[in-house]
Amino acid sequence: MSERPPLRIAPSILSADFARLADEIAEVAAHVELLHVDVMDGHYVPNLTIGPMVVSALRAVTDLPLDTHLMIADPRTYGPQFAAAGSTSLTFHPGTDDDPRGLIDLIHESGAEVGLAVRPRESLDEFAALLPHVELVLCMTVEPGFAGQAFMPEVVPKVAEAVARREANGWRYRVEVDGGIGPATVAVCAAAGADTLVAGSAIFGERDRVGAVRAIREAALAAAGR
Ligand code: DX5
Ligand code: ZN
Repeated sequence: MSERPPLRIAPSILSADFARLADEIAEVAAHVELLHVDVMDGHYVPNLTIGPMVVSALRAVTDLPLDTHLMIADPRTYGPQFAAAGSTSLTFHPGTDDDPRGLIDLIHESGAEVGLAVRPRESLDEFAALLPHVELVLCMTVEPGFAGQAFMPEVVPKVAEAVARREANGWRYRVEVDGGIGPATVAVCAAAGADTLVAGSAIFGERDRVGAVRAIREAALAAAGR
């Protein structure tokens, strides 16, 4: 069995105060490995959030990797713009493009890592041909669109399957969970092998953000037996 990637906590700024983003990030920066940036276009999901200009502004105030989750209908047009703005990785929903394999190459050429986002009802089989080519597989544990939704435990077997496929094939991607993650729900995900843990409201919805990050990390480490 190959070595497991280290655990990483990714606060989702979707739940932060957008008028004070730099301060919000500074509060958690020393305690997390990356930041999760949720991009929504009002087409692929019924919510509208941020564009490359905001990523560019974030890039100027933090050295943390910007884990950018594209919930947009046209990742081919906008993906390279986010890469140019400073996104470290771009995670797209493969059903949004006619040629997801080509889009992976395009994003790599733009200098960013690539993630595949899998919705709760989608299976890994649908995207099996793409798995060898990406750095991240995002198993969504809510339907994309909004922060603060309830965790869907039925996704956990898919997390374990993503890990098992990686190990069986010697692939390299990290496995991320996103949606409803907090100290109470992170354990089953970490036990299943998730290594990159996104949390929005469980961090920025708390008065003590650092304490919230610590609680999530401790629960994950204990569950993963690390
Ligand atoms: C949902 C987004 C998530 C969201 C998570 O569409 O992809 O990243 O910000 O928020 P919580 O952790 O509050 O469920
Ligand atoms: Zn997200």
